[in-house]
Amino acid sequence: MSNALQCDLARLVARVEREDGPRAAADPYRQRFHLMPPVGWMNDPNGLCRCGEWYHVFYQYGPFDPTGGVKHWGHYRSRDLLRWEKLPPLLYPDQPWNIHGVYSGSALVENGTMYLYYTGNVKFAGDYDYITAGRGHNVALAVTHDGVTVDSNELLLENKDYPENLTCHVRDPKVWAQDGKYYMVLGARTKEDRGELLVYESEDKRRWQHVNTLTTPDLFGYMWECPDLFCLDGQWFLVCSPQGVRRQGNRYQNIYSCGFFPLYGDFRSDYTLGAYQELDCGFDFYAPQTFLDGSRRLMIGWMGMPDADYTNPTVAYGWQHCMTVPCELRRNGARLLRWPAAEIDALRGTRIAPEQAQVFDLECITSEKGRLVIRGAAVIEWEKQRLSLTLMRGGAGRTVRYADVDALAALRIIADVSSLEIFINGGEQIMTTRYYPDPSSCGVQIDGAAAEIWTMGALQI
Ligand code: FRU
Repeated sequence: MSNALQCDLARLVARVEREDGPRAAADPYRQRFHLMPPVGWMNDPNGLCRCGEWYHVFYQYGPFDPTGGVKHWGHYRSRDLLRWEKLPPLLYPDQPWNIHGVYSGSALVENGTMYLYYTGNVKFAGDYDYITAGRGHNVALAVTHDGVTVDSNELLLENKDYPENLTCHVRDPKVWAQDGKYYMVLGARTKEDRGELLVYESEDKRRWQHVNTLTTPDLFGYMWECPDLFCLDGQWFLVCSPQGVRRQGNRYQNIYSCGFFPLYGDFRSDYTLGAYQELDCGFDFYAPQTFLDGSRRLMIGWMGMPDADYTNPTVAYGWQHCMTVPCELRRNGARLLRWPAAEIDALRGTRIAPEQAQVFDLECITSEKGRLVIRGAAVIEWEKQRLSLTLMRGGAGRTVRYADVDALAALRIIADVSSLEIFINGGEQIMTTRYYPDPSSCGVQIDGAAAEIWTMGALQI
């Protein structure tokens, strides 16, 4: 099913990828083992799933503008999370209900078919604040059996269908099947600027009933973006990206936060949310999404931050942002641990000496106090209960972030050409950031830790 606008957009995207792709590929900061847009802009992962033998990663893709632009659903697929195939975008802003962007959403897989629930963004022309008026945020459903052809695309819910007292900001459906029914959570901003989640139920995947609203007793930000709700090892977790939470000490250091609440009780009726914990305390982690792969739950996040006051130098080469490595989630009481999926270990090459490290995977046992200097650009320092990440050179405006830890025991650092993912104590806390060292620099100086370091290979795309 396609229309004339979609046909033209598909041709235009193919053309900019062909014409601008070589310039992006020539950027010395192009990553080696993280998914990036071929050209233009990337933000949230969307529709993550395993369908038959394929893993699918759709993503917010602005092919025409490395600083944003109108969003499509870009698409990669893989059988092993290592060899990826770039496919044309699956969803284009080509319908009246998504004409200003096919915004974020998720996949429900049933009998080899992907049901992709997404947000259709519409911005009306006029003198609006685009919060309480002037914007349509619609829930729509696109169905595809192969990720290449859209079998159907339909509007399911519009702003008038949501509960009263909400602004126009209602988006990012996450859908799953449970107890013979379907459930959906949507992030929302109320007219009182309170962030909350709407819970919907359906028997047939198309007609949805609002059954509950989840929020905190005390105000916690004005909007909860990109919600996810799942049970892991007997405990429910509500993941979301709240906006408008003020910094408190070393918490909420970025403009927007990203974390989880343990949820007790039943999300459909009586529930309580436990203490919120951040999923990451680096500079660039937002809007993650999880999916089930057999018995494991994998998470991929966007390695970026909306409305941040720094810009990646990659914009000069016509592209911006990337995904994190896929991670497996584990439960430790009311906490979520995040650790690179086992597949990432297969990218490890030979063991190398610290002075040779450039793109690497490093594991170390730490003593009470210590310091790592990576490629002369990033310094990780720890003493007692605090770890800091300072970008000295190549921070592109980023400076320092802190992690409070009970006791630091171990670090794993996955360093790509222009990113660091720092896993503290087996994934209790993580710091994710882009950084831009001198392209020819190499070496890690290590004080206060015994480290093993491997070179890292590349994804095949
Ligand atoms: C989060 C977000 C989502 C929205 C999408 C638009 O980064 O703002 O709430 O659906 O990005 O690209």
